[in-house]
Amino acid sequence: MTRGRFVSLEGGEGVGKSTQLRALAAAIAAHGIEVVATREPGGSAGAEAIRTLLMEGSDDRWNARSEALLFAAARADHVARTIVPALARGAWVLCDRFVDSSRAYQGGGGGLTDADVMALHRVGSQGLLPDRTFLLTVSTAEAARRVTERGETDRMGSKPADYQERLATRFAEMARAEPDRWRLVDADLPASDVTAAIMAELAEWL
Ligand code: TMP
Repeated sequence: MTRGRFVSLEGGEGVGKSTQLRALAAAIAAHGIEVVATREPGGSAGAEAIRTLLMEGSDDRWNARSEALLFAAARADHVARTIVPALARGAWVLCDRFVDSSRAYQGGGGGLTDADVMALHRVGSQGLLPDRTFLLTVSTAEAARRVTERGETDRMGSKPADYQERLATRFAEMARAEPDRWRLVDADLPASDVTAAIMAELAEWL
């Protein structure tokens, strides 16, 4: 039995990650492969409970350090109980956000360095990284339009536009620094074109 592939989707708010996750899961399953579609924070019972702590309440409920620890704790449970067992039985894991979101959101100016975030990840999740990470990019105007259309705001999502731009820059820097793992995808395109572009990048493994 060969290990499955671990694929993550990253990007700011409103880039269409969840739509793509569903479409990709169906397209990969059509090849007769078991797919586990999951998300962070969450993806296991313990991690979903931590998600509630993170997503609800006032902006100042957690400081940068306690928040980073909660994300790392949620990820540790998700990795141990969902991701590693799935990969071991040969399933593909498609994950809406993973440690790179912590690097961008918690490590991108909240008082923690990238090395701090990766240290938490080493302790919590033995440093597990996806085999491939797709960075979905959209123009600022399109992202704002989609977020407004979606109409939800939660503790993590209620951030100003300049914050979203800093995030986009940070994600782009991470992608440039690790070109073997990351692929950039233009998510301003229609959803079906975005799915096709991602599937083309995964074709070598199918
Ligand atoms: P989402 O379900 O819309 O992707 O929301 C998750 C929110 O949590 C989003 O604002 C990004 C944020 N987040 C972090 O700040 N750090 C993390 O490690 C993860 C996984 C998400």
